[in-house]
Amino acid sequence: MPDVLFEPLSFRNLTVKNRVFRSNISGRFDNYDGTGTQTRINWELKFAEGGVGAIISSFVPVHPRGRIIPNYATVYDDDRIPFWRAVGEAVHRYDCRYIMQLSHGGRQRDVPDLQYAKGQSSTSKKDPLHGFECDRMTIGDIREVVAAFADGARRAREAGLDGVELHGANGYLITQFLSSAINDRTDEYGGSLENRARFVLEIVRAIRTKVGRDFHLQMKISATEHADALIFTKLEGPGNTVEESVQVCKWLVEAGVDAIHVSTGNSFPHPRNPAGADLDVQLLGHTYEQLASSGTNTFRNLLLFHNDLTGAIFRKAWLDAGVPANQIEGLSLSDAAQIKAAVSVPVICTGGFQTASVIRNAITSGQCDAVSMARTLVANNDLVKQFAAGRDRAERPCTYCNKCLVHVVEHPLGCYEVSRFDNNEAAMLEQVMSVYRPQPFA
Ligand SMILES: Cc1cc2nc3c(=O)[nH]c(=O)nc-3n(C[C@H](O)[C@H](O)[C@H](O)COP(=O)(O)O)c2cc1C
Ligand code: SF4
Repeated sequence: MPDVLFEPLSFRNLTVKNRVFRSNISGRFDNYDGTGTQTRINWELKFAEGGVGAIISSFVPVHPRGRIIPNYATVYDDDRIPFWRAVGEAVHRYDCRYIMQLSHGGRQRDVPDLQYAKGQSSTSKKDPLHGFECDRMTIGDIREVVAAFADGARRAREAGLDGVELHGANGYLITQFLSSAINDRTDEYGGSLENRARFVLEIVRAIRTKVGRDFHLQMKISATEHADALIFTKLEGPGNTVEESVQVCKWLVEAGVDAIHVSTGNSFPHPRNPAGADLDVQLLGHTYEQLASSGTNTFRNLLLFHNDLTGAIFRKAWLDAGVPANQIEGLSLSDAAQIKAAVSVPVICTGGFQTASVIRNAITSGQCDAVSMARTLVANNDLVKQFAAGRDRAERPCTYCNKCLVHVVEHPLGCYEVSRFDNNEAAMLEQVMSVYRPQPFA
C-alpha cells in the first residue's frame, strides 16, 4: 500500500513530492542591509538534501520598515531578485519546491535597524513583551504596505520561486490587523471581524492582480491567538478564536489563497509556539540583552532574566502557559482539522511533528494534508530520508528544549542541545558552524 507521507500533494498551481514541508525558521544568515548570502543557501540546502518536499522560507520583509532584525534577507527591491533566483535554483536541484514567506513585522520586532527605530501597526500600543513602540498606520501607510506585499510576490515569481506565503501568524503585522486583542482601530480596518480582515484580503487581491491566478499563494495563520497566555499580555484580552479564524480562512480562499498553514499564538515567541519542554532563562538573560536595550521594558525584562528567583518564576509561567511536553507534537491539529473541514484548499499544520506514524495519522484521519517542521528538522536535517528508510522517529529526536530559539537573536541558528551530541560541545558547535561552508572565496 502506498505510504501517504510520500504521496505528492497538489495545490492549484503547485505539486509537492511528499507531505513534509520545512517550516519557516529565521536565522541571521545575511548582510546587515538585507542582501542575501551563500550562508543562507547553505542553510536551505541542508533541508532540500534531507528530503523535504518543499521549503517555506523564513521571514522575508517586503518593506524596509517591516524588518524585525538586521541580517535577514529581504525582498523589497528588484535588486534582490538574483539572490532569490540562486536560492531557488539550488533547492530545485533536489526536486524540492521553494515558497517565500512575505512578511512585515509591524510593532513586533527583535532588534530595530538604523533606518526605522519605530515600527508601525494597526494600533499605537507598544508590544507588551519587549515594549517596542509603534505608529498607528494611516490609510496611506496601509496602501503602501499592501503594494509592497504585491511587489514582493512579483519578485518571488520573477526569481523563479514556486510560490509565496503571507506571514499572517505569530503576532506580526497581518496578525496585528486580524487580532481582536491588538487591533483597536475605529475606521474600516478595525472593529468587526470583516473590518479586521480587510487588510489581509486587500493584500491577497493586490497579489492576484500583480501575479495572476497561476502562482501559488498560501497564508500562515495563528488559528487560536491565546493572546492572554502571559501576565504581560492579559490586558489585551484572549484574541481571535478558531471559529473566527475559520471565517477568515473562508474569505481568504474566496479571494484567491491556495492553501492554509496553521499555527498558533499571537506573538513570537509564544508559550505555544514554538512550544517548549523547557526554557533556559539564564541563557535568555545573555542573548536577550540586544532586544532589551531597544524596547521600553528593558529594566523589567533584564531584572526578570538576570535574577534566579524571578527567572524561575518566568520560566514556570512560560511553561505553564504552553502545553505539557508529551502534547507538543501536533498541538495545533484540532485547529487545523476545523479549518480543513471548512475550506476547499489543502491545509498544512505546524507544531512539534517528528514521528512518521503521528504524521500519517494526522493526514489519513483528515485533520490536515501535510505538516511543516522547523526545530525537529534543525535537529535532524535528514528526517524525511529516515522516514523513507522505515524509521518512525530519529534516534536522537528534538527535545523541544528551545535552546535554538534562545540562541538565535545573537548566535548562528542550529541545534544547541548538547545531550544530542553525547555532551560533546565541540561536536555540537561544529554542526552549528557548518552552515558557513562552503563560501565562494574559501
Ligand atoms: C528559531 C526559530 C525561528 C522561527 N522563525 C519563523 C519565521 O521566520 N516565520 C514563521 O512563520 N515561523 C517561524 N518559526 C516557527 C516555526 O516555523 C514553526 O511553526 C514552529 O517552530 C513549530 O514547529 P516545530 O515544533 O517543528 O519547531 C520559527 C521557529 C524557531 C524555533
Ligand atoms: S536546540 Fe535542538 S533539540 Fe533543542 S529545540 Fe532546538 S533543535 Fe530541538
